[in-house]
Amino acid sequence: MEITNVSEYEPIAKEKLPKMVYDYYASGAEDQWTLKENREAFFQDSRFSLVYTRPYWLQDGRPCWMVGNLGGRYLARFRPRILIDVSKIDMTTTILGFKISMPIMIAPTAMQKMAHPEGEYATARAASSAGTIMTLSSWATSSVEEVASTGPGIRFFQLYVYRDRNVVAQLVRRAERAGFKAIALTVDTPRLGRREADIKNRFTLPPFLTLKNFEGLDLGKMDKSDDSGLASYVAGQIDRTLSWKDVKWLQSITSLPILVKGVLTAEDASLAIQNKAAGIIVSNHGARQLDYVPATITALEEVVGAARGRVPVFLDGGVRRGTDVFKALALGASGVFIGRPVLFSLAAEGEAGVRKVLKLLRDEFELTMALSGCISLKDITRNHIITPAEAKHSISRL
Ligand code: GLV
Repeated sequence: MEITNVSEYEPIAKEKLPKMVYDYYASGAEDQWTLKENREAFFQDSRFSLVYTRPYWLQDGRPCWMVGNLGGRYLARFRPRILIDVSKIDMTTTILGFKISMPIMIAPTAMQKMAHPEGEYATARAASSAGTIMTLSSWATSSVEEVASTGPGIRFFQLYVYRDRNVVAQLVRRAERAGFKAIALTVDTPRLGRREADIKNRFTLPPFLTLKNFEGLDLGKMDKSDDSGLASYVAGQIDRTLSWKDVKWLQSITSLPILVKGVLTAEDASLAIQNKAAGIIVSNHGARQLDYVPATITALEEVVGAARGRVPVFLDGGVRRGTDVFKALALGASGVFIGRPVLFSLAAEGEAGVRKVLKLLRDEFELTMALSGCISLKDITRNHIITPAEAKHSISRL
């Protein structure tokens, strides 16, 4: 199968998977505005943007022309630097003290055995062979212990907080014992977003699978309902009272660093730091929760500004190209996580597919660095991109 970019896996997955499964992975909430925006904010020009030129005089009196863009919805264009020796590119980075091969990691996505019989095992193996981090979902179809048994690897555990705190405490302890290195606490899901395809399909976990982490706790099955089965499960089990004090509670039961996943504003970034989060993930849950929130790449700089370098800020949502990774890093992210490309490649080709996705993104990112004149991640700066607003004032900025 000749795949030349990660987006090519989606139509293959669509063809292979049962409709209920494909729709579950692919859908966003309600109008799916944010779903589209997560992707398009990386590249699209506004149809209504207006380009203008006007004369401008340099200090020595010589005239020049200023080209500006009034509005424009696209996020950023590159400002590559040239004639820099790029024969060796170093993409390695250290995340929470763990050295990895590139700033591209795997986001938590639920129920991977619906995509492929090897599910989370395949993803874990592909991540460790690429030298990067996999985040396992609470709602995985393989348990923390099973994933750990695939071999060494740096892994994070995504946590949903259940009403029954004994369930949470037990699970966190098991993740710790299984060698997981951090907790990614999902904070945007007191209730499940309305994913209309799941409602129409009466989505439920196929009967031959369980939410493996909860199997022994009698919470591993999902009842069929006349709604999305997952929405009903969340309504029954997930704690809607979750608040900042629970971040403190979590810190009292684990020494693992806690990443707050689902921050979109400066206010919440500051609160996360006040509450001793080890890092922040700018995420809108793959556009599956509140519709009409901004694309994560659009919200990133606000959060980075509030974090002021005190904790690392990561991003997930819409990353499909090495150039996307570069843009996120130029705007201040310490790394990105990818979700759907993993699911779709897993569905198409199992572990080999996930490996391929990681390799394609790695190669594209390396090329972007080379063509931008950056030989290590610290060389990627805000000056390597320009936004429409800055383009308006381009001469005064430089
Ligand atoms: C799982 O986290 C989902 O959003 O479906």
